[in-house]
Amino acid sequence: MFRANIDGMNTFRLQLRFLVPLVLTLVAAAYLALPLMDQLTLRWFSRDLDLRGSLLASGLSDSIGEALAEHRVTHLQALFDRTVQDERLLAIGLCSLDGQLLERTKGYPRGLDCESAQSTAARADPVLQIEGGAVHVGFFAVSDESGRVADLVLVHDMSFIQRRSQDTREYLIILIAALGAAIAMITVVVAQLSWRGWVAGARALLRGEGLIRPLLQPAPELAPLAAELRSHLRELHDEYRRIRGPEVEWNPDHLRSLLRTQLRGDEIVVVSNREPYIHESSSDRVVVRRPASGLVTAIEPVMRACSGTWIAHGSGSADRQTVDANDHLRVPPGRGEYTLRRIWLSAEEEQGYYFGFANEGIWPLCHVAHVRPVFRETDWLAYREVNRRFADAVIDEVRSDDPVVMVQDYHFALLPLMIRERLPHATILTFWHIPWPNPESFGICPWRREILQGMLGSTILGFHTPFHCKNFIETVDRNLQARIEHEDSTISFRDQQTLVESYPISIQWPDANGAAAQPSIEQCRRNVTERLGLSAGQKIAVGVDRLDYTKGVLERMQAFGRLLEQHPEWIGRLALVQAAAPSRGVLQEYRSFQDQVRNMAAQLNEQFGREGYRPIHLLMEHHEREAVAELYRAADVCLVTSLHDGMNLVCKEFVAARDDERGVLILSRFAGAAREMAEALIVNPYHVEECAAALQRALTMPEAEQRERMVSLRMTVQEFNVYRWAGRMLTDAGRLRLRRRIEARVERHHADGVL
Ligand code: G6P
Repeated sequence: MFRANIDGMNTFRLQLRFLVPLVLTLVAAAYLALPLMDQLTLRWFSRDLDLRGSLLASGLSDSIGEALAEHRVTHLQALFDRTVQDERLLAIGLCSLDGQLLERTKGYPRGLDCESAQSTAARADPVLQIEGGAVHVGFFAVSDESGRVADLVLVHDMSFIQRRSQDTREYLIILIAALGAAIAMITVVVAQLSWRGWVAGARALLRGEGLIRPLLQPAPELAPLAAELRSHLRELHDEYRRIRGPEVEWNPDHLRSLLRTQLRGDEIVVVSNREPYIHESSSDRVVVRRPASGLVTAIEPVMRACSGTWIAHGSGSADRQTVDANDHLRVPPGRGEYTLRRIWLSAEEEQGYYFGFANEGIWPLCHVAHVRPVFRETDWLAYREVNRRFADAVIDEVRSDDPVVMVQDYHFALLPLMIRERLPHATILTFWHIPWPNPESFGICPWRREILQGMLGSTILGFHTPFHCKNFIETVDRNLQARIEHEDSTISFRDQQTLVESYPISIQWPDANGAAAQPSIEQCRRNVTERLGLSAGQKIAVGVDRLDYTKGVLERMQAFGRLLEQHPEWIGRLALVQAAAPSRGVLQEYRSFQDQVRNMAAQLNEQFGREGYRPIHLLMEHHEREAVAELYRAADVCLVTSLHDGMNLVCKEFVAARDDERGVLILSRFAGAAREMAEALIVNPYHVEECAAALQRALTMPEAEQRERMVSLRMTVQEFNVYRWAGRMLTDAGRLRLRRRIEARVERHHADGVL
């Protein structure tokens, strides 16, 4: 009832808004139209009377001519009297050529002599006001064969014209009023209907119809309102998601509870080439170092959450001094959360297995980065042998016959099958941290079948992206007699079924304490600026990489140089800080790459450097995590321009470091991370101009846009963190283990004759 009243009021107000201008318009129209109409009517009638008069004059000409010729003017009186019986003709006067009024009828206006009649008739408005009212005066020549003989004055009554004009005016007023009433009525009805429709539509919008259910389209006139509401809703929803955090928060506790429930606390063993802590002798003391490795970044927090044993190559010069008799060591140093088991490799073994087969063969084979893979028989044999030694170590370490073994990366392609042969009930999760190429590219490996068979010893085989999984499945299809179930992404080969699945790897999201302990953004900027001797306010672009030809460091520097060429205003105002950890320096390919990087930096510094300004700061050394975090926090832009990369964690670390929600990420579309991190500026690193343009855009990006992008990226990385990566893989492992246990029970019952 109340709402009906409000609606009624609103409708009324709406109608008034239409009606008042309408009435005013109609009054104004009448006010202007009526005098105009009077004038027009008068003119029409004058013209009519003139015509009539000239017809009459010519009709009377003969009689008048005769009467004048016979000097019997008085005879005309009767003719004139008869003629003026016409109700509209009031009087007739006859003028001689010299302007004497010769004859006139009874009603002829007094004082209207021939001269004034002629001048009145010549006017545009030949009307005279006499006692009886307005009259029209016409002055016409009377002619016979000899020419003009006299003039005739015809005086017409105008009152009938005024009567007609009055009638027309009344009709017109009635018409305008009727028209106004009709329009008003239509307006009222239409306004009533459209107001109701509009209100109903707006209420439907507010209920969410047509907003969150796109199938119900709002009325077209409400579309702009719907679009605006939709965008507000989205903003609110984004804000809400940010405040509430991820649906399921993946953290160490969650992972631990998953291990308890899904895996019943089964033991976990990780195998990787690179160890998480490297002990080095430095002068007279031993220092511990964290390697620059995406793999270690990812696995370490998982191991800390689930304890277990991590088997890795002991590569540090002081590694042997720090282990116990079983080559064990509790790490992290001083906290002892899990066990590190070190494997010792001879220089020949390391050369053949790690430098040779893994890094000169498989690495360039899988990264299509235009470096030819080298395959040597001796390297292959060393690779196989070292894989066997790690398999022995796994058998050594495990206490049960069905452990969960997580095999990491391309150094151990043969390990899964070697473990499977000795521990048939083990759950082997193999994760391939680098891309998998297409079958043609992989086809050049002489031992491709052995590698594929080795990997298919796994229970689960994980890659970063579905695209890498697809490439792997196609490679198996091309090379082995295996059964492939595309539906559930499994490969069955010699009684062993392997699930091939994508698990995008990530980093550990900093917890509140970790984030709070970091130096402020301003402090980080000050530190970096002072340390590198930058000028205050200079913009900082950073790159953080292992010195590897797949990382696109040369392409990045080229783009930086192109930017300075195209926008010289940045010279002196922008620095590229490239942290480049030397890597695999034993290999010629890597050494020459390091030289190229060094040369290009020197050449660009030569070209664009000025007194007190060095455009590129190449930091070719190992950086500890804190130093890298400081660089991330000091940066305006972070450049990740890999030519090909499985995932790349630098971009995720950068985003995690930016709790100020500022800074721009430029990311190669050839890094697996580009799939998840669409809010970065995605570039083709081979396209120098495109990268230079992205750099320019990043450096000039408004803060609001930086925030929009960064907030969204942070939400993604926080939610899709490394615990989720491990959790998803371990959940799949738990499911498959349960299935295997049920199958084993059923088989047992069959054997016992129970079923
Ligand atoms: C890549 C590989 C990792 C490796 C890392 C560092 O990210 O996928 O397995 O740990 O490079 O390489 P490095 O040869 O120094 O261990």
